[in-house]
Amino acid sequence: MGGIPRHIGIIMDGNGRWAEKRNKKRSYGHKAGSENVQKIAEHAFTRGVEVVTLYAFSSENWARPKGEVEELMHLLGDYLKKLAAKAVKNGIKINVLGRKDRLSAKLNKIVAEQTAKTSGGKRILNILIDYGGRGELVHAMNALVESGETVTEENIGKHLYTAGMPDPDLIIRTGGEVRLSNFLLYQAAYAELYFTDVLWPDFDEAELDKALENFASRERRYGKIEC
Ligand code: FPP
Repeated sequence: MGGIPRHIGIIMDGNGRWAEKRNKKRSYGHKAGSENVQKIAEHAFTRGVEVVTLYAFSSENWARPKGEVEELMHLLGDYLKKLAAKAVKNGIKINVLGRKDRLSAKLNKIVAEQTAKTSGGKRILNILIDYGGRGELVHAMNALVESGETVTEENIGKHLYTAGMPDPDLIIRTGGEVRLSNFLLYQAAYAELYFTDVLWPDFDEAELDKALENFASRERRYGKIEC
């Protein structure tokens, strides 16, 4: 049975709708969503999870209106500083994973400084920014071609952003949509999927516990059959 997942991935969807329901701008929802990040990550770690990976900005999100993208980028930088200060105290290592070449110099500087502070942490919080699963595979394949390594599952894994980490056991998507949206495509091969209608800013500790209970009841067969 499932037990406690070592690695949880979360697609934090529904911030915009959460704000619209309150007659507020979408940015209000993103802010509320970012304030939920630390609470949920901490709770997962308290339950024994080792790695939490959050989808904060997909490579496809660049196509959103310019104003929303700018607000999101600003929020990510701002929130990362707050998150890193708490992470240092709580023994959490923050990684920002994804393409760096399209982020502003200012955000890249914040990312480098803030993540470096947390490098001693034992539990891992991955924040995906300008991330897409297909893009990650292209990046890994190019690295293999450059190094002349053979294409094997092991070698591909070494060049993914999540190299050295266990694959996600559980992927949660909030906000009612039932799809992966280019999230950890390669690593998700045997992940258990959990979808909830709850919008991300409303996804609290009790909701995470529900997802963990559901995971614990799953029978994981990895393609084998019961003997
Ligand atoms: C999807 O909701 C959410 C996003 C595109 C952004 C998620 C980012 C955060 C919660 C900020 C996280 C901050 C850190 C530092 C990790 P949506 O806007 O697509 O909502 P909708 O589906 O209701 O429109």
